[in-house]
Amino acid sequence: MSAPPVIPLDDEQWWQDPYPSLRAARDGHGSGVTPDGMAVLLRWADAEAIKKSPAFENEGLEFIEERGFRPGDPLYEWRRYSIGALNGAEHQRLRSLVNRAMTVRSTDRMRDSARAHVEAALRAGSGPGDTVEQDIRSGFRSSPFFVITEFLGVDLDQAMEMAATMGQGSADAFGPAVTQEIRDAANTTFAVLMEFVGDLVEERRADPREDLLSALIEAEEGGDRLSHDELVVLFTNIFGGAIESTLSAMTSVVYELARHPDQLALLATDPDGLKRGAVEEVLRHRPSFYAVGQKVVAPTTVGDLAFEPGESLSIILGGPNRDPDRWDDPERFDITRDPTKWSFTFSMGPHFCLGQALARTELQETAAAVARLCSDLEVVEEPRWKPFATVNQVEALRVRYRLT
Ligand code: HEM
Repeated sequence: MSAPPVIPLDDEQWWQDPYPSLRAARDGHGSGVTPDGMAVLLRWADAEAIKKSPAFENEGLEFIEERGFRPGDPLYEWRRYSIGALNGAEHQRLRSLVNRAMTVRSTDRMRDSARAHVEAALRAGSGPGDTVEQDIRSGFRSSPFFVITEFLGVDLDQAMEMAATMGQGSADAFGPAVTQEIRDAANTTFAVLMEFVGDLVEERRADPREDLLSALIEAEEGGDRLSHDELVVLFTNIFGGAIESTLSAMTSVVYELARHPDQLALLATDPDGLKRGAVEEVLRHRPSFYAVGQKVVAPTTVGDLAFEPGESLSIILGGPNRDPDRWDDPERFDITRDPTKWSFTFSMGPHFCLGQALARTELQETAAAVARLCSDLEVVEEPRWKPFATVNQVEALRVRYRLT
């Protein structure tokens, strides 16, 4: 069999439109490899098999040990309890304690608030009949931040301090080239963050409210509860997981609707009836995360690939999300597809995105608001997609529309 094609992740240009190369690799070979030789899975059936098989797990502490972090380092101790880095029974225990607090019913109460933030961003201080031109990514920036802050029940000044601490360069600590300087900065950031959130948890324990943090403190399953360290880290996982991913998807809702005026016109005929379909199609067509990584823990085969323990692989989501074996005419953007047939964008299996119900609520209100408020929507300048980023995001999206 021929060698799998290289997916050129090291080429900045690839990030501007990865879909043709993913299609060629998937349909021509079934899979690909990264420039470093790691397997890239692209078919729906393979991606599903991997995320549901006990032979594969999420990367745990070894991921940061490889980057030079050691037990006792604040970032190491944070990752020890991070839900995305736990597997098996430990992970299941945490999920069952948190699941109840993150139901569709609990996230649906954020719908009015999400709609109000999006509508204000689209109006941008103008009135009916006015033409608005703006970078919609900047316009939307504060919306998911306000929503998660209200959902968690954090005061705004505390949330801003937390976001500022989290934004201090810690992302570099998960990148491919970690220096001692990056390690020192990340450890300082995580030490400050843990102390800050630890105080917040104690404050809320003493004075509970009707919010998610209080619900997490109260969460109990078979006499079991979250420990202080688990609570603190889970809180940062939820807060940190909620913002950039949702902002990126909200921006993509506007981008796709602007590029497909026929679909926007259709959505405008029944915004509340069609918003679910529109959102699922944006998520499928343009996933907000570029990939999900896995490590192999038992010898196994997937399709025609054999894996040995210790190997890593990547599922690049643009592969399964446009696999013709699952989707009819997959390159076509069509908001009338069945909205209950989900794409791979929130992943699958035990680590399936914990915040998907909240994200979907925010995105549905975004799609409906665009359809209700914006006519003659157009992209003013083709956006540049940020290369080498975990969350697929444009640097800016300049759009023009008339307010109705
Ligand atoms: C459009 C927005 C979002 C997208 C595309 C997204 C996508 C994902 C993906 C791909 C994963 C990884 C699953 C895996 O390891 O296989 C994940 C996990 C996670 N997400 Fe989201 N997410 C979004 C919004 C949110 C929001 C709003 C929250 C919080 C309210 C959140 C919290 C989390 C958490 C805590 C995990 C870890 C779950 C676990 O490991 O058990 N996400 N998300």
